[in-house]
Amino acid sequence: MNVLILGVDGYIGWPLALRLLKRGHMVYGVDSFFTRRRVKEVHSDSVLPIEPFSIRNKKLHARMQKQVTFFRGDVSDAKFMYDVVEASRPDVIVHLAEQRSAPYSMIGLKQATETMVKNIVSTLNLIYAVKDIVPEAHILKMGTMGEYGTPNIDIPEGFFEVEYNGRRDYLPFPKFASSWYHWTKVHDSNNLMFASKVWNLSVTDVMQGVVYGTRTPEIVETGLYTRFDVDEVFGTALNRFCAQAIANLPITPYGKGGQTRGFISLEDSVQCLTLLAENPPDRGEYRVFNQFDEHYSVLKLATIVKEVYEEEFGGIAEIKHVENPRVEKEEHYYNPIHENLKKLGFRRTKELRDEVELMLQDLSQFRDKILSMREVIEPRTFWKESRGLVQGEKVVEES
Ligand SMILES: NC(=O)c1ccc[n+]([C@@H]2O[C@H](COP(=O)([O-])OP(=O)(O)OC[C@H]3O[C@@H](n4cnc5c(N)ncnc54)[C@H](O)[C@@H]3O)[C@@H](O)[C@H]2O)c1
Repeated sequence: MNVLILGVDGYIGWPLALRLLKRGHMVYGVDSFFTRRRVKEVHSDSVLPIEPFSIRNKKLHARMQKQVTFFRGDVSDAKFMYDVVEASRPDVIVHLAEQRSAPYSMIGLKQATETMVKNIVSTLNLIYAVKDIVPEAHILKMGTMGEYGTPNIDIPEGFFEVEYNGRRDYLPFPKFASSWYHWTKVHDSNNLMFASKVWNLSVTDVMQGVVYGTRTPEIVETGLYTRFDVDEVFGTALNRFCAQAIANLPITPYGKGGQTRGFISLEDSVQCLTLLAENPPDRGEYRVFNQFDEHYSVLKLATIVKEVYEEEFGGIAEIKHVENPRVEKEEHYYNPIHENLKKLGFRRTKELRDEVELMLQDLSQFRDKILSMREVIEPRTFWKESRGLVQGEKVVEES
């Protein structure tokens, strides 16, 4: 298959490219290096050192005799998107190329605007490029479990049966996201569902849980590392907790820590995306998958990191609750369904506890780097303090 990965330089995009190449697919990749730039802007860096894309690609070639055919550019530029789709003629496009940090989108109006415009326009560009150039191609779009929020009822996979005033229908499940970033994913989902219906496009919309881990079997040398962020803007809670343990800093769950989310390992995320790419929907079908395989509260994650660090690394880790910078429920019901991927053959291959041990092992080589970043690990982006228009600041800038 010809596979086009939008966001190939990212945490998930890079290991996915390695897997698809290994499985004999032709892989085209796009990236604007947006994440690298924005992470620098918040005075942070990937803890695992990542080479410039061209070097990683050369190292990949040296090891596998295969590489990604790469296009540098921004997918919110329609002309660029059309050119890439025309040049690669993909059977499937995996769309990962979005601003993906909830805290980044909540810093202020400028960041919220950038997230809204880039994310929603990029998906719209993709929809039109596919409709006009490769209408039979499969759009495999990465959304997030965060689209659903935390309702007090079970969460189905995209759609559910509703009875209201004596009538029944099968409808999209209501979404209630918790940051501007998550809302962009909701808007993308609505746009994809609509486009699929109007233009008969084949779409898979993946509601993915939080991804964790540093390794997949193809990452066999440091030159092939994927990025790993631990700061409060771009790092997930689990990433931050692992970094804090390794640097002997207190592990800091936000608030009570009862916030519960779905999780999946990097290896299993790559496995699922490969499975979905190789098993496309019917023409005109819009299908939704909840892609996670376990759920944990933030406090449970902190406890697992503490236990693994103390048992396997002989250190002492302290858990210290800090003020929650987000506006979210700290205790709630959470029961999302996740059966559709299993029906396609997905089987979980990783346990969170084992992966935490590997993450701690990998991070332990970079303890000094983590210590030098300690200020950017602590929460500084408070939802309630999101900045409005700042005098002299351009809200829309060139990336
Ligand atoms: N990592 C997770 O835990 C997680 C969980 C749920 C959903 N997701 C979603 O999965 C996708 C990939 O996540 P990730 O963790 O690999 O993020 P990432 O930031 O590491 O990767 C995204 C890549 O896309 C590129 N990019 C962003 N906007 C672009 C644009 N307009 N044009 C071209 N390139 C652009 C970035 O430079 C980056 O390399 C994102 O859409 C994210 O929202 C991630």
